[in-house]
Amino acid sequence: MSFELSKKLQSLPPYLFLEIDKAKRKARAEGRDIIDLGIGDPDQPTPKYIIDNLYKASLDPANHRYALDQGMPVLRRSISLWYKKVFNVVLDANSEILPLIGSKEGIAHFPLAFLNPGDYSLVPDPCYPPYKGGTILAGGKVYLMPLLSSNGFLPDFKKIPDGILKKAKIMFLNYPNNPTGATAGKDFFREAIIFARRHKVIIVSDLAYSQMSYDGYRPPSMLESKGARDVVIEFHSFSKTYNMTGWRVGWACGNEKLVSALAKVKSNIDSGIFSAIQLAAVSALEGGFGHMQDMCSLYQKRRDVLIKGLNSLGWQVSSPKATFYLWIKVPKKYDSIKFAEMILKQADIVVTPGVGFGRYGEGYIRMALTVSKDRMQEAIGRLKNCTW
Ligand SMILES: Cc1ncc(COP(=O)(O)O)c(C=O)c1O
Repeated sequence: MSFELSKKLQSLPPYLFLEIDKAKRKARAEGRDIIDLGIGDPDQPTPKYIIDNLYKASLDPANHRYALDQGMPVLRRSISLWYKKVFNVVLDANSEILPLIGSKEGIAHFPLAFLNPGDYSLVPDPCYPPYKGGTILAGGKVYLMPLLSSNGFLPDFKKIPDGILKKAKIMFLNYPNNPTGATAGKDFFREAIIFARRHKVIIVSDLAYSQMSYDGYRPPSMLESKGARDVVIEFHSFSKTYNMTGWRVGWACGNEKLVSALAKVKSNIDSGIFSAIQLAAVSALEGGFGHMQDMCSLYQKRRDVLIKGLNSLGWQVSSPKATFYLWIKVPKKYDSIKFAEMILKQADIVVTPGVGFGRYGEGYIRMALTVSKDRMQEAIGRLKNCTW
């Protein structure tokens, strides 16, 4: 028997990273030595003190029961203290913070709280795919804001037609940016807040990469800017900051009404985060900043090795100040999928075709800094021998 998929599901493309993973598994099953620069998943383990705390907390039967759906008070308090230290912004732990089962979960569910059929989300393109997926699954429509190199990969708000703005409820922004590696300054954030207030649009600011930055650069939070609390909900993740992608823990914070609307959606969908993971997350936040500094210095060294190697091949790749991604132009005669396929075929290297992040990602590939320097040197050697 076959059942017809809902129109919403039919309209979603296959999730890009699953497709890449399939191609990679197939190549590995054929016995090929694959260098994986594809998915942005840290190769380093979660710091041991966090694992020790998970183990300890998992022994306590009190942590085996359903968790509170608003997140444990101790976790919300430690997020608030961490946030003050990092951004010098005070968040109310009871009303302005909501722990999540990974930030993707919250980002994808958020449109359910505010979109009615026919409402628009303003979505940067290229982008992290759940901005579009979450909007469509909530019955909304997507308006693409192109991120072009000529504008520093920032959206140009002036280009959004009035007719769309009247129906727009949400705008997604993500700086430091996946996949382009671009960063945004406080001036841009202020402009975005003024624009959002004028047009009564909610800003979803995705800060998954807030702690991954180089050369002394410190990514700001939008909540540092005046007026942000009226319109901004921000999403944070433990995944990249603490090498905890598989653990599934993050948080939303910002405007109280936006946070509580998301909590209401989630109370109808999930039953909270495993309490032992929440307590391990507390230990992560309270563990100081040493791990983060080590992590940034590791990625910075890798970034420099890979960029030097690629530039020696004549690729002209620019150096991101944040994130662990290089956003690289492909030669004119290829599209991004063909180029990625060719690199996999000739060099056994996995990269992500830019078009998987949206149509304005066409013409680029993304490389993640998630392998050792030695493997990067090996990758450069292999690329040198490719013919195109
Ligand atoms: C821009 C961006 N936001 C959010 C996430 C999701 O993070 P999490 O693991 O917390 O769901 C990712 C993961 O790659 C990302 O690139």
